[in-house]
Amino acid sequence: MISEKMQVALNEQLNKELFSSYLYMAMEAYFEDNNFTGIARWMELQAEEEHIHASKLYSFIIKVGSRVKLQSLAEPQFEWDSPKAVFQAVYEHEQFISKSINDLLDLAIDERDHATSTFLHWYVDEQVEEEANAAEIVRNFEMIEDSKGGLFLLDRELGNRVAAAPTV
Ligand code: FEO
Repeated sequence: MISEKMQVALNEQLNKELFSSYLYMAMEAYFEDNNFTGIARWMELQAEEEHIHASKLYSFIIKVGSRVKLQSLAEPQFEWDSPKAVFQAVYEHEQFISKSINDLLDLAIDERDHATSTFLHWYVDEQVEEEANAAEIVRNFEMIEDSKGGLFLLDRELGNRVAAAPTV
C-alpha cells in the first residue's frame, strides 16, 4: 500500500500523461491541417505512447491497492507559429514532464517507498529518450530553416516512425 500523498502524486502524474497525449493529438491535428501527413503520423504515435505511459500508471496505482482518480484535462494549445515552433513546444513539454517524474521519484525516496521508486525508473529512462528525440527534431528544423525541399524530406522521414512495442 502506498501513502495518501503518493497516491495523490501518482494520480497527478497520470493526468499529466493523459494531457500529454491530448496535447500531441492537438499537434497532430495542426500538422494534418497544414498538409504534413508524415509528421502528423509521428504525432499520432507520440499521442499513443503517452496513453501507454498513462496506462502503466493506472495499472500500478491499482496493483498497489490504491485508487485511481481521474481529473479534468486542460484544453491544449490549438495553433502554433510554425512546425519548428511545435517541436520546440514538444521539447519544453518533455522537460516539464521529466521534472515532474524526478519530483515524484524524490517523494518516493523520501517516503522509502521502494516499489514506487523501482516503478518510476522506467519513466526516468523514457524521459531521457523523449527529450533526446524532441531536441534532435528541433535541430533538424534549424538545419533546414525554411527550405521547402528540406521540410518535404523531414515530413517523409518522421512519417516512417513505427509504433513502440507494448510495455503494459
Ligand atoms: Fe510520457 Fe512524453 O512523457
